[in-house]
Amino acid sequence: MAKKTIRDIDVVGKRVLVRVDFNVPLDKDGQVAEDGRIRAVLPTIKYLIERDAKIILFSHLGRPKGKVAERFKMDPVAKRLSEIIGRAVVKVDDCGGAASRQAVERMQGSDVLLLENVRFYPEEEKNDEEFARRLAGLADVFVNDAFGTAHRAHASTVGVAKFLPAVAGFLMEKELSVLERLLTRPVHPFAAVIGGAKVSDKIGVIFSLLDKVDIIIIGGGMANTFLKAQGHDIGRSLLEIDKVDLAGNTINEAESKGVKFLLPVDVVVAPDLTPGAGQKTVSVDDIPTGWMALDIGPETIEMFTGATEAIALALADSKATTVVGGGDSVAAVRKTGVSGKITHISTGGGATLGFLEGKKLPGVAALMDKETIPAHPLVCV
Ligand code: 3PG
Repeated sequence: MAKKTIRDIDVVGKRVLVRVDFNVPLDKDGQVAEDGRIRAVLPTIKYLIERDAKIILFSHLGRPKGKVAERFKMDPVAKRLSEIIGRAVVKVDDCGGAASRQAVERMQGSDVLLLENVRFYPEEEKNDEEFARRLAGLADVFVNDAFGTAHRAHASTVGVAKFLPAVAGFLMEKELSVLERLLTRPVHPFAAVIGGAKVSDKIGVIFSLLDKVDIIIIGGGMANTFLKAQGHDIGRSLLEIDKVDLAGNTINEAESKGVKFLLPVDVVVAPDLTPGAGQKTVSVDDIPTGWMALDIGPETIEMFTGATEAIALALADSKATTVVGGGDSVAAVRKTGVSGKITHISTGGGATLGFLEGKKLPGVAALMDKETIPAHPLVCV
């Protein structure tokens, strides 16, 4: 990787500010429902504990839009982290303010602190310089291990890096190297399974993958827009009418590049979304007028080797290198209990898409570059 990592910097006994992505789902009681993103940063936390660093973690949770929101406080996350690492995690009630400074002053080597939700501050999303400087003032070194937030140019991902030596944590390093390998040295046949409600969210990544993959499989609500572009009557199914032409161009582009573009051939339809409303399975050519497609049908499942959950099972049993990213797909993989068989479960959603689309991730760009050895040795006379 072209960026410095935590291995390239001295952290022994230092105050280390670590941006993590603890934006985890919460259950109805406000407790952490799924802790994959917390467990994913354990290698970095353990490495710092072993080096007696003072570990100051901070993250966003949800989208509180610059205001304090009770349901997005970091307390349940601190509790879960403490259970996982088996040591105390002190939770601070502000992020970069007086409470944070006092708590840092009291820290001993290998202590773990978690600051309050950084998005409670409007300065965060504005990448406010003063706010970033205040956060940076808490520490000697900045480690960014929040791959899932690397596509955001915020104070906590970009701003802080201006004021401290800034390096990647182990999760950031791993995510970048797995995804980089996918783009530069993929093993063929290379298939991309892409779902989600909207064509507009995924079109960039689909276009950029057309040059790399052999097969693209489209599922989720956005398949309807592609089906419409092929001339199917999709009834009242979810549709982005203004993206139909784009969807059509994508299909043509795939064809011209020799990429197999697989769309559903049958769908489960219902007259409306009322539970129990008479569902049936029909071919995509026979969607009744006014009905809506809710899911892909059995023939498609067979063709795709499964719907989201069945695909998860099929992928796990295959010999392919499997990388899964995005909230719903990751949830499907975990629900089917096959996550241990997936080569890499990405903690990113938007960040993973951005990377695969070839976009520069601001949170990565802000980190220090590895020293490059000059191609021509310098001669001093
Ligand atoms: C995510 O869940 O994808 C990341 O935590 C980023 O969250 P955001 O989309 O609210 O910036």
